[in-house]
Amino acid sequence: MFKNIPIVPDVFYVGVNDRQKSSFENIIPLDKGVSYNSYLILDEKTALIDTVDVSQATLFIEKLQSQLQNRKLDYLIINHIEPDHSGAIGFLRKYHPEVTIVGNSKTLSMLEGFYGLEDNVLEIKEEETLSLGKHQLQFYMVPMVHWPETMFTYDKTAKILFSGDAFGSFGTLDGAVIDKDMNTDKYWDEMIRYYANVMGKYGSPVQKAMQKVSALSLNYICSTHGPVWHERIPEALKISDRLSKYEGEEGVVVVYGSMYGNTELMAETVAQGLAEAGVREVAVHNISKSDPSYILRDIFKYKGLIIGSPTYNNELHPEIEPLLRKIEIRGIKNRVFGYFGSFSWAGAAVKRMSAFAEKTGWSVAATVVEQKLGLKEDNYNACLQLGREVAGMLKKEVN
Ligand SMILES: Cc1cc2nc3c(=O)[nH]c(=O)nc-3n(C[C@H](O)[C@H](O)[C@H](O)COP(=O)(O)O)c2cc1C
Ligand SMILES: [Fe+2]
Ligand SMILES: [Fe+2]
Repeated sequence: MFKNIPIVPDVFYVGVNDRQKSSFENIIPLDKGVSYNSYLILDEKTALIDTVDVSQATLFIEKLQSQLQNRKLDYLIINHIEPDHSGAIGFLRKYHPEVTIVGNSKTLSMLEGFYGLEDNVLEIKEEETLSLGKHQLQFYMVPMVHWPETMFTYDKTAKILFSGDAFGSFGTLDGAVIDKDMNTDKYWDEMIRYYANVMGKYGSPVQKAMQKVSALSLNYICSTHGPVWHERIPEALKISDRLSKYEGEEGVVVVYGSMYGNTELMAETVAQGLAEAGVREVAVHNISKSDPSYILRDIFKYKGLIIGSPTYNNELHPEIEPLLRKIEIRGIKNRVFGYFGSFSWAGAAVKRMSAFAEKTGWSVAATVVEQKLGLKEDNYNACLQLGREVAGMLKKEVN
């Protein structure tokens, strides 16, 4: 019954949308949902590239069976065994006990570990090819894009790169699958949020993978999440390249925590200083309201970062501390940084942020504002100055 969308005449999209889960990995909000993409090649031999999350396994199998029309499934190629793509393998094996599961040595040991599957598998190595008849598939290992076993499958005949999580994005596929058939506006920021939160730590493996990609001729990039890239391949590659080099655009994120509004007023003033000095892209986040995934998205997107925190029980604001940890874990490089803080009787926040700033190796603004009790004129002016100073540093480093 299902009419699956072809990428090229004999390669079909058999993936599914997830509009039900509220958070990806039970952590990252899915305000626009997510798709789990799977692709079927119908040649002399048939091959499926990746499966989907177990929650969508029934629909996935029905879409697959509609396309196979009683043909047997010869191969399942696993580019990435994280359960959002491997969850349906158990079902698949029940429908297609004959299927040969293709992966590298790490994939196959994880396949045994997760699902107890050991028989009828085919181990492949770097640049080995698998012929389906007309379609020749070649494999490229890209460890840590996003797990150790991750690999790319390149269809040399159709010039399609099946890229696993690389070049993926949050956001369901709303009717169309290929970029040329849709308005892609909603995906770009979701691609950055996906990268910042899921891949953010793995800049250098992503760079290595991009070097492998640069040698390939590409008509389509079929990722495991979000649109199939065709007309917009250059933009999709550019975003990944920039993010994995930790290159920020000209703009500043101002993040603050505030219980009663004093630190918030400092943040407003810093933002005004930035705008006055000509920064057009200023993203202000109240850490008690913005989900950290959006804050991290903007930290990856922009080169400037300014953080403000009140002192709370002789520590940083309880939400600012974990944000600093998230930044450290991802090893974010090349940022222009400023910070400010407040207290009422014994300040600790500014001291902690200065220790953080030192560890990052970033360019740090000389102006640091530490406010006791309410905001007075001298500190008001210092906050404006902090904004102006970061703006000046940013313009120097970006241009
Ligand atoms: C729960 C709580 C704990 C605090 N702990 C400290 C502290 O350890 N040292 C201090 O100097 N001020 C402390 N303060 C005072 C705040 O740091 C100070 O009032 C700050 O300016 C509040 O900023 P805000 O108005 O942005 O919330 C605390 C305030 C609260 C509500
Ligand atoms: Fe993944
Ligand atoms: Fe994934």
